[in-house]
Amino acid sequence: MAVSDAELLDHARAAAHSAYAPYSDFPVGAALLLEDGRIVTGCNVENASYGLTICAERTAAGRMIAEREEARTAGERPRIIAAAVVGLKAAPCHPCGACRQVLGEFSCDRVIVEGSSGDPVSISFTDLLPHAFGPDAL
Ligand code: THU
Repeated sequence: MAVSDAELLDHARAAAHSAYAPYSDFPVGAALLLEDGRIVTGCNVENASYGLTICAERTAAGRMIAEREEARTAGERPRIIAAAVVGLKAAPCHPCGACRQVLGEFSCDRVIVEGSSGDPVSISFTDLLPHAFGPDAL
């Protein structure tokens, strides 16, 4: 059965509880819905060298690639049907610019965030990152 936007947000919220965010105290979780129905989650991972922090969305994207079940031809690109993002301290929590670029690499179709009352808000990717630079540009 297809996963609802609210359910995908639930996965992202659960992932946020694993965040390592001692510096910002701003835990974030992301859940990526893939073409085969799989859901891959990630959380932010901060560092004492602040700039080395990895956002939740990019943790999830790395995991999506690293945990693919079958051996793949290098360069084969999975497609993200939808990406849900939850910040435990703020709603909505929109993906940062770097994460938009990384989600775009995998043809992300839309991003789901929590509205101020916790309801799912779906944003088309082209609204989030218009005129994106991506694989097709090369
Ligand atoms: N953060 C994310 O995980 N995703 C975003 O798209 C925005 C920001 C994290 C990074 C940092 O650990 C904390 O939120 C505060 O910026």
